[in-house]
Amino acid sequence: MKVVVLGSGSIGMLTAFYLTKQWRSTLLVTNRIKQAKFIEEKGLHLLHQDGHSEMIHVTVESISTLEHEQIIDLLIVTVKSYHVEQVLKTIEASKLTISSILFLQNGMAHTELFSTISVPEIAVGVVEHGARRTNDYTVQHSGVGQIRWSYVRKHSSTVEAVFQETRDEKFRTKYESMWKPMLQHKLVVNACINPLTALFSVQNGELLQNPHYYSILKQVFLEIIEVIDIENKEQMWEYVCHISKETGVNRSSMLSDLENKRKTEIDSIVGYLLQQAARKQMTTPVLNFLFEAVKGKEKENKLGEDNL
Ligand code: PAF
Repeated sequence: MKVVVLGSGSIGMLTAFYLTKQWRSTLLVTNRIKQAKFIEEKGLHLLHQDGHSEMIHVTVESISTLEHEQIIDLLIVTVKSYHVEQVLKTIEASKLTISSILFLQNGMAHTELFSTISVPEIAVGVVEHGARRTNDYTVQHSGVGQIRWSYVRKHSSTVEAVFQETRDEKFRTKYESMWKPMLQHKLVVNACINPLTALFSVQNGELLQNPHYYSILKQVFLEIIEVIDIENKEQMWEYVCHISKETGVNRSSMLSDLENKRKTEIDSIVGYLLQQAARKQMTTPVLNFLFEAVKGKEKENKLGEDNL
């Protein structure tokens, strides 16, 4: 079975590492030429929570490899949400035969594009690991969590087959029967935590500890659950607080994007919620504020997009 991980950010590196370690060689595809050279020369390094590190050899190729005719059993797309559209266009125009695609992005805007792809099997997942790229060939596995995933379009159960072969207590995966609630729950968490931590420049846990930030967090939450229908609102609020606490010392991905002058995933997270609100003709002043404020920060930073 040929498995390709597309995107060499922290989640791509983490996924390629464990798949290769536990299962078999996985191809990592990137358009960061310098990074590809480093990984080829030095191997892919993973820094564990206890400080010890491991290295494995992973095959890395540039994005142009996707132009060649080939059969891919599973393509795991780990690029940032704003690159998904471009990736899908590349795939649709290519001579690739892909049986199954698994998307691992924050937000939900990319799910609106699924109807444009003809791949027989589509799955989505949410990543609950803490991972940080510390240099071009090292990923720090700062929080051992799991990948929850589900089928949007099921055909050959390829994702299941690959994950069954990839058993590692530090890289657990969990199948969920319904993809939409799974992504919605993660969306609520990201929409609550990411913009606020990015704008206030604080670690996730600070949103619970500072009573003023806590009060704003609650207002954001209340507006979001008006926009998307979440069944158990009390439980959802507890989940947001739980993630904030569990990842208390983390700097959210949005904060880290702004600090590193990269484009954020605000469009796929809050932008997606604003679209849903507009469809329902709802006014959402808090979400509008968050969206414009993060966009304003991006503009201030004169940022560039993160590479695939
Ligand atoms: O995007 C992130 O940073 C993470 O999804 C989360 C859960 C907010 C933890 O930092």
